[in-house]
Amino acid sequence: MLFGDAEGRTDLCSMSGAGKNSLGNIFRAEDTSSRLSSQSERNFPIPDAVQMTVHQLAESLGNAIDAKDHCTRSHSEEVAVVSQAIGLQLGLPPRTADILHIAGHLHDIGKIGIPDSILKKQGPLTDREYATIKRHPEMGAAIIEPVTCLSGNNGIVDMVLHHHERFDGKGYPDGLAGEDIPLGARVIAVADTLSAMLQDRPYRRARSYVEVVAEIQQCSGSQFDPRIVEAFMDIRETVQGYLLSMRELCAVL
Ligand SMILES: [Fe+2]
Ligand SMILES: [Fe+2]
Repeated sequence: MLFGDAEGRTDLCSMSGAGKNSLGNIFRAEDTSSRLSSQSERNFPIPDAVQMTVHQLAESLGNAIDAKDHCTRSHSEEVAVVSQAIGLQLGLPPRTADILHIAGHLHDIGKIGIPDSILKKQGPLTDREYATIKRHPEMGAAIIEPVTCLSGNNGIVDMVLHHHERFDGKGYPDGLAGEDIPLGARVIAVADTLSAMLQDRPYRRARSYVEVVAEIQQCSGSQFDPRIVEAFMDIRETVQGYLLSMRELCAVL
């Protein structure tokens, strides 16, 4: 089981039906890990208790952006959990996967600066409106940049800034390609697409899990890093279980 392996990772599936707080418990259990890689130490060089607080603040900010639009309810939480799961499947140390989780909560925080008239518009966007929406990664990075422990090379600020880059270089804001895109941003790109396509949006209905998985596979090598897609495919059924559990919780809250 992904989160219940021999290294003492937490079993994320245990959250099923156990109330929303259990999602926080998953993260707290990960927080207690003493297995810190030198890379994650550099990217997040703060004590566990502080990291836990940063996570809680990130979750609150993610909830704030999701609350702007009922269509995206729980989206940031889903991106956080799925990004963390993919990170662990990639073999990243738990501490680094925790950082991906925090970045998932924060990835769309820049949308707080996008007018509701654009964000919630029913029907197609004009070129100008689309250009405004495309500014949200830069706005998000600017919002969290003052938090020193989130910045730094390939840190959470960079993940937020680059989560709409594409592996083929056709994304935004900088048109980065391949491994020039921070690894965390490449992971979030897959988790973001998965969660977004499974939700109704003003301009289209939600797609089925099978359809979304097929779409992600089809975009491997163009929109997404094939290595990330492969890791996701290996755990797609487990991820589906997480998402179903989270949506059941949301439905009763
Ligand atoms: Fe969380
Ligand atoms: Fe985004």
